[in-house]
Amino acid sequence: MINVIGVNKTYIDSGTEALKDVSLSLNSGRIIGLLGPNGAGKSTLIRVLSTILKFEEGELTIDGLSIKENPLEVRKKIAVALQYSSVETWLSVYENLIVYGKFYGYCGNELNERIEKVIELFQLQEYVNTRANELSGGYRKRLQLARCFLSDSRILILDEPTAGLDPIIKDKLYGLLRTYSREGKLVILATQLLDEIEKVCDEVVIINKGKIIIHDTVDEVKELFGGTKKITLFFEEVDEEIDKKIKDIAKEYEIEYLIDEEKIILIATNKIANRLCRKIFEDLDPQRIDVNNESIEGIFIRLFSTNEKRS
Ligand SMILES: Nc1ncnc2c1ncn2[C@@H]1O[C@H](COP(=O)(O)OP(=O)(O)O)[C@@H](O)[C@H]1O
Ligand SMILES: [Mg+2]
Repeated sequence: MINVIGVNKTYIDSGTEALKDVSLSLNSGRIIGLLGPNGAGKSTLIRVLSTILKFEEGELTIDGLSIKENPLEVRKKIAVALQYSSVETWLSVYENLIVYGKFYGYCGNELNERIEKVIELFQLQEYVNTRANELSGGYRKRLQLARCFLSDSRILILDEPTAGLDPIIKDKLYGLLRTYSREGKLVILATQLLDEIEKVCDEVVIINKGKIIIHDTVDEVKELFGGTKKITLFFEEVDEEIDKKIKDIAKEYEIEYLIDEEKIILIATNKIANRLCRKIFEDLDPQRIDVNNESIEGIFIRLFSTNEKRS
């Protein structure tokens, strides 16, 4: 459905190479999470996919249509909610929906019915006559999303759509996305939230510094990077002897550790965690050991620090 081949994008003013040789193949009926830290290139890729941003090298086709040759036709196939509000600020909520609906070729009763439906979906009833620039951030986001669901586009591209949304609308959105994918539509969702990926996505594309590091199913990625424990050892003081012993243990078990005054923090896979804890008790005799499943944030951080070491 979407094919990206060797796309490069450099912002001329800053000289930033925001996308480096990006290739991707995305199929219908899937929800794709685009994950990466700040500045990774998510929004750049989203804008390129949305026909909004031109790129220098490479090729991008949507349903077989080249984005370079047929930008307007491609644009009509997709529904987009950018990271930063792209609504018409001087128009009311209702007028925004009219303009967008007409762009997709709806008119008359059909247009009105579609507008009513999305107003209800995103609970915008109170604000239909309010100018977009008078809406709060969360309501602007709702308007952006309402516009997306106005059309029957088979491809939905959303850049951090839940930032600023309240939990009720967020949940509603997740439900809508699942329905969309069951209907065979393709959803691309840029996010920094790992739990969002786990909750709604089928596949994850991880991007860092403009490069795609991983594209796989969510289950595979979890398998690869999840399943770890954070082990914290507490001492009165981490003296030289403890320091030396932990170094040896870390070497033997091939794990990373961090010394923080009277604490040592280790990250170990579930597989070796038990053995490691026994060894620590025997060799180091800490005052206390805490063992926790590593947090979602922890996995995220580790993902990118590992990547930096590799590159
Ligand atoms: N309009 C722009 N002009 C110049 N540089 C930009 C522009 N937009 C983004 N960048 C740079 O490109 C890189 C990727 O940014 P972006 O795609 O917004 O990342 P993300 O959405 O993952 O946070 C960053 O280094 C950012 O500073
Ligand atoms: Mg962004």
